[in-house]
Amino acid sequence: MPDWLITGCSELLTLRGSAPRRGRALADLGLIRDGALLVHGDRITAIGPRRRIERLRESRRAEKLDLGGRVVLPGFVDSHTHLIFPQSRAADYEQRISGKTYEQIARKGGGIRSTIDSLRRASPKKLRDLARTRLRQFAAHGTTTLEAKSGYGLDWKNELKILNVLHELHQQQPLDIALTFLGAHVVPPEFRRRPDAFVDLLVKRWIPTVATAGLAEFCDVFCDRGAFTVAQARRILLAARACGLVPRIHAEQLARTGAARLAIEVQAASADHLEKIDSSDIRALSLSGVVCTLLPGCSFHLGLGKYAPARQLIDSGAIVALATDFNPGTSPTLSMPMILSLACTQMRMTPAEAIAAATINPAYSLRQHDRIGSLEVGKYADLAAFDVAGYREIPYYFGVNLCSLTMKRGIVIHSKKR
Ligand code: NIG
Ligand code: FE
Repeated sequence: MPDWLITGCSELLTLRGSAPRRGRALADLGLIRDGALLVHGDRITAIGPRRRIERLRESRRAEKLDLGGRVVLPGFVDSHTHLIFPQSRAADYEQRISGKTYEQIARKGGGIRSTIDSLRRASPKKLRDLARTRLRQFAAHGTTTLEAKSGYGLDWKNELKILNVLHELHQQQPLDIALTFLGAHVVPPEFRRRPDAFVDLLVKRWIPTVATAGLAEFCDVFCDRGAFTVAQARRILLAARACGLVPRIHAEQLARTGAARLAIEVQAASADHLEKIDSSDIRALSLSGVVCTLLPGCSFHLGLGKYAPARQLIDSGAIVALATDFNPGTSPTLSMPMILSLACTQMRMTPAEAIAAATINPAYSLRQHDRIGSLEVGKYADLAAFDVAGYREIPYYFGVNLCSLTMKRGIVIHSKKR
């Protein structure tokens, strides 16, 4: 692998400093104008103003990569995706446009349950090929690490099928994938009349097996109206924690249930969605170490109009992150730049806050902030370069992909000619 001297960064957003970022510190991008960095193998060995970096002895030997005046930032860390599903739910989409709600469609057997049916029929090869294509698109939009959940199998054989595909994809790289077991996505059809028997199965069998076999690092629950109750989610997440899996939780999307408080109680790494939280939840979250992962793609795609209270969360000092929630039902986008546009326009986050919420804070929520999420000496050379005149233009130009180069661990994995 060559060493790289990367120059031509009109703005180099390092995001250097401590993690996680709260309050005002969220907008601190550590910006260097006319910056450069030196990469040895998969790591950054020097970073700073071009003039200083170019003078280093190692720079003379390194291969030159001149980005010609682009804006460079850490690769996006997309900390909430449902990467593995066999087909779209465009028919649900059309029904919603005609007036049916997400929950009405789900109750009629559409929604998540229809994805479960098709996933159970899909071969591992088909799922792997689809996911590979999607991963290339993630990379083309500047994402270098993502979290991915199981949860569309919901019997042991098919949950295992998803986790195995994810493992293979992670091993083959180029993107790093953090694995989450979401056996508690919804109550599967076989257990419709006895949901607590399903929770027993999760707690006594599946979760301990996932943990001992090292099949996932995190355990998630969809704790909401129509999915799992707070009491059931508590049992599941405490069992997960006892086995060494780190809790994450889908919380307060469809109804305010108390799921955000549960996230704090079980010391979840992340509470995701949060569209329905109130001011007392905001206060509690801001005093906790739980990352509030906001998913504005869902409100946009479902046409709900109501977004999570990002402004209040940030201003009260909560740890805020952004993610795509890439999934066929509520957020079929893998574009982090689009999520940044939604965060700024619909949730009034500033472009700088949105960028930090898409890099260093989600790295923290995945417990990887020691190696990704910022561009600093010793961290992975994971970066994205954008064809824009300044970083504010990344969310400003929405619905287009201006990411022209993505590097993962020192390897160029996406490159577009100007
Ligand atoms: O995060 N809410 C649960 N999970 C997904 C939706 C999954 C689906 O509809 O297929 C979400 O929004
Ligand atoms: Fe989700």
